[in-house]
Amino acid sequence: MNEPSRNEADRLTDLKSKKLRVAPSLLAADFRRLEEHVAIVERAGAEVLHLDIMDGHFVPNLSFGPGVIAQLRPESKMFFDTHLMIEEPARYAEAFANAGSNLITFHIEVTDNPGEVIDEIRKHSCAVGVSINPATEVRSIEAILEKVDLVLVMSVWPGFGGQSFIADVLSKVEQLRDRMRDDQRLEIDGGIGPKTIASAARAGVDTFVAGTSIFEQPDPAAAFEKLTQFAQKAISTPI
Ligand code: DX5
Ligand code: ZN
Repeated sequence: MNEPSRNEADRLTDLKSKKLRVAPSLLAADFRRLEEHVAIVERAGAEVLHLDIMDGHFVPNLSFGPGVIAQLRPESKMFFDTHLMIEEPARYAEAFANAGSNLITFHIEVTDNPGEVIDEIRKHSCAVGVSINPATEVRSIEAILEKVDLVLVMSVWPGFGGQSFIADVLSKVEQLRDRMRDDQRLEIDGGIGPKTIASAARAGVDTFVAGTSIFEQPDPAAAFEKLTQFAQKAISTPI
């Protein structure tokens, strides 16, 4: 019998039940007490943990590698949403899949052959996301849109946490929402906080990455809950 792998099962359950999700970004957590910070947001109800991988080439910063993800994997049941801000994503897909990622997102700007990257990620039983930088148009991913599980719209230039939200990208969110299927997720990343989450939700985002506005707050659990409520309220209240 071919039982589906754990990653596949997680992916299916996760993607079929569409609801708004705030995904805390580990980048803003306290690396001296990483496991504790992860447990705090998971207890508060977080289902997705966003993991930012930077290579110092595609973005002018370095973060962490698959070792940190592997260390956290046995400690958490959250969906591990790995955001590769790196060149040559296909080369590293296996390492990030084996470390315990449930979904791997690559940047369209790093490749001329996105189909090959998608196949390589799927080969390792992970769901696939594609990301576009603030200046990258929706048409750059048109040809592969139906092949991915998630589109990540960057609302800051990738590389650092704590930057200001670029509201112009919301027009791309609206275009994408209209073209994407119900089983695909639309994620936004950068500058999401109490003042920006409602506009993103109304534009059609269903997954909101938030680093500074959760982990750098005195009470990260309360900050997570507040953001989730703001997003839900934004789509249930008439404008
Ligand atoms: C930026 C990263 C983000 C970052 C967001 O390059 O991709 O995920 O952690 O941080 P905040 O929420 O602080 O803007
Ligand atoms: Zn990210």
